[in-house]
Amino acid sequence: MSAYSETIYTSSPEETIEAGKKLGSRLTGGEVIAYKGGLGAGKTTFTRGLALGMGLEDNVSSPTFAIVNEYHGNGLSLYHFDMYRISGGEALETTGFFDYMSDSAVIAAEWSENIEDELDSNTLILSIEAVGEEQRKITLTDPSGGTKYAGTWN
Ligand SMILES: Nc1ncnc2c1ncn2[C@@H]1O[C@H](COP(=O)(O)OP(=O)(O)OP(=O)(O)O)[C@@H](O)[C@H]1O
Ligand SMILES: [Mg+2]
Repeated sequence: MSAYSETIYTSSPEETIEAGKKLGSRLTGGEVIAYKGGLGAGKTTFTRGLALGMGLEDNVSSPTFAIVNEYHGNGLSLYHFDMYRISGGEALETTGFFDYMSDSAVIAAEWSENIEDELDSNTLILSIEAVGEEQRKITLTDPSGGTKYAGTWN
């Protein structure tokens, strides 16, 4: 089956947060979201929306120093990773990445390019590309080809 993907263009950080909210509200647990996109693309900004859409508080900050920030509420938990300084399976294992996977949690990983070979083939991919000063092209890809995320940006 070929992968399902859909794209939204945003023109401000606020619009990127809105997009994040939309995806966040679709999540049901067990998802791993691999972010792609360079420095300052908007991965952390998008994650603020993701947390809000999951019903978590809007206190998301970059996990650069901690490697992983955890957000817990009444429903699903969010584990927000920064893989900027991680490379290879052994290094990834020491972050606890695989232990955080659970049906009652969502993992969102910045700089997933660094751990690409370690990711399951049905990992969701969220790419953010700067196409202008404040314009971003955001594409969600579901490699399973399923329609679970159809219309996410509507
Ligand atoms: N449409 C937009 N969407 C998201 N961020 C935008 C947009 N336009 C401008 N920005 C700015 O781009 C920056 C995005 O920063 P953010 O920390 O979210 O990026 P990041 O991808 O997590 O970077 P890093 O790789 O350093 O962790 C912010 O300064 C934000 O204000
Ligand atoms: Mg970031």
